[in-house]
Amino acid sequence: MQRRFPRPRDLAPLMKFKKPELNAKKRRLDSALTIWDLRKIAQRRTPKAAFDYTEGAAEAEISLARARQAFEDIQFNPAILRDVSAVDLTSQVLGAPVAMPFGIAPTGFTRMMQSEGEIAGASAAAAAGIPFALSTMGTTAIEDVKAANPLGRNWFQLYMWKDRDRSMALVDRAAKSGFDTLLVTVDVPVAGARLRDKRNGFSIPPQLTLGTVINAIPRPEWWINFLTTEPLAFASLDRWSGSVGELIDSMFDPTVTFDDLAWIKKQWPGKLVVKGVQNVDDAKKLAAMGVDGITLSNHGGRQLDRAPIPFHLLPAVVREVGKDTEVHLDTGIMSGADIVASIALGAKFTMIGRAYLYGLMAGGREGVDRTIEILGDQIARTMRLLGVNSLAELEPGHVTQLQRLIPRG
Ligand SMILES: Cc1cc2nc3c(=O)[nH]c(=O)nc-3n(C[C@H](O)[C@H](O)[C@H](O)COP(=O)(O)O)c2cc1C
Repeated sequence: MQRRFPRPRDLAPLMKFKKPELNAKKRRLDSALTIWDLRKIAQRRTPKAAFDYTEGAAEAEISLARARQAFEDIQFNPAILRDVSAVDLTSQVLGAPVAMPFGIAPTGFTRMMQSEGEIAGASAAAAAGIPFALSTMGTTAIEDVKAANPLGRNWFQLYMWKDRDRSMALVDRAAKSGFDTLLVTVDVPVAGARLRDKRNGFSIPPQLTLGTVINAIPRPEWWINFLTTEPLAFASLDRWSGSVGELIDSMFDPTVTFDDLAWIKKQWPGKLVVKGVQNVDDAKKLAAMGVDGITLSNHGGRQLDRAPIPFHLLPAVVREVGKDTEVHLDTGIMSGADIVASIALGAKFTMIGRAYLYGLMAGGREGVDRTIEILGDQIARTMRLLGVNSLAELEPGHVTQLQRLIPRG
């Protein structure tokens, strides 16, 4: 091998330094290539109790771990030699267009995770052309969400309280504000056991203890935002002081039945979706009632632990009710590939909870934009690699569920 001195002419092309990004937030968010990367940034920037409230699930957190595992345990079956130069992520969901096959799931206490809260979610959804769902336990008023997403699709999520008049007054306000869909959540007759919150002594609003103060030192921005913005109040509810479990158990009505659902349905002028369906028989009952959609969900593993895995329920439920009723799915989605697999097995739409909140905690509105961008890119790339141009071309043959978590018999 003959050696020589490198010539400046040869070195120059190797020395194309990228212009440094001066905006620290943009630099931070651009460095995240996956939702898991956003999660890491979120954890660094959010006090432990608020992060754990978001990330945690019920009991031993088995429901959530299994739901994520089920998505990992798939095999994609691609077709080759297709022209995939253009790929279309749009579809019709509940009678209106969506730009991508996922929306932002309803989450409570969102301004506690990061002060921009629901406004960041609703305005990011508006920019992306996907639906935003506001929780009954949200921390931004219905009308303010409408103002943040004035032309796009807003959905309202209902928890039925013991005080039914007050619950239905919220539903009425959502209708008046032009929310097009009501999600009735049915998997919270009582609060799930969120053990992380118990261990952290987590309460609403957060209490200042020696531990929280020490934990706050490396996270000054969260605290400055928290202390210099409107105090946490619910979308419409009075202030509360206590744990989330106590709040749920004191306010929520554990007596709600199918009859009550029929009563709610009569009063809602838009589309009605029941969120938290976990077996085929209930799905059939709801379809017979004429609901517009059902969401297969175990609430992100935050209610019953060791609950059925929504992704595993999907094929049977689609087979039984998919012709009459839209089947949506959430729990465990951390990648666009999870969404593609769900659509292939017959889901019409999916919702993201933590994936959205990790983005929010990592960087407010821009962080949610980054979540949506990452998922959108992953969906488009996965579709192209599978050899399809549109969601309608995705079919069950594109996915094989590997054995590990399949129920026996
Ligand atoms: C912090 C947090 C708060 C939530 N609050 C609500 C809520 O108020 N109402 C509701 O119907 N679901 C709520 N959920 C459940 C989500 O709507 C969704 O079903 C779940 O997050 C999906 O799972 P994923 O987080 O793995 O995407 C919440 C979830 C999280 C993580």
